[in-house]
Amino acid sequence: MRSWAEAVLAIVVIVALGAGLFLFTGESLGGDSTDTTTPGTIDTVAAARGQTVAKNAGCLACHTVDGSDGTGPTWKGLYQASRPLTSGESVQADEPYLRVAILDPGAQVLLGYDNIMQSDPGQSLTEAELTDLIEYIKSLA
Ligand code: HEC
Repeated sequence: MRSWAEAVLAIVVIVALGAGLFLFTGESLGGDSTDTTTPGTIDTVAAARGQTVAKNAGCLACHTVDGSDGTGPTWKGLYQASRPLTSGESVQADEPYLRVAILDPGAQVLLGYDNIMQSDPGQSLTEAELTDLIEYIKSLA
């Protein structure tokens, strides 16, 4: 009879440990998926929102996302690429570069292109829309 009680106790302990582990990993997974600051990870939900922003703001009239050239350069493979500027220098397309390219297009004009984003399409965006848009461009790298 004693061994039977021990077996029940063992099962209870195992189930309790399993439930604890499940809760623990569930919590840590949830924590990770909302972290957008980790370098190298793409927040796919934000990127999807950014795609809608790009459509609505008219960016895709000049920019493609499939590698083909439009009136403006394609966004495919843009993130972290080296960008040759009309000033003669080359800069890496990191987040600060993308931010300036959208908000102040005349500041760093890409070699071979005209500064025709003069209408400043980025100026009408909210900070949240801008962040989503950049996440979208990053996801196309
Ligand atoms: C009228 C056409 C046009 C529209 C609309 C337009 N762009 Fe551009 N964009 C360009 C051209 C041309 C360049 C290259 C010249 C330059 O650097 O300004 C460029 C450059 C860029 C760059 C730098 C690209 C690179 O390869 O380094 C980014 C980022 C960018 N645009 C984002 C946007 C976003 C975001 C929008 C919408 C809010 C937008 N553009 C709307 C024509 C356009």
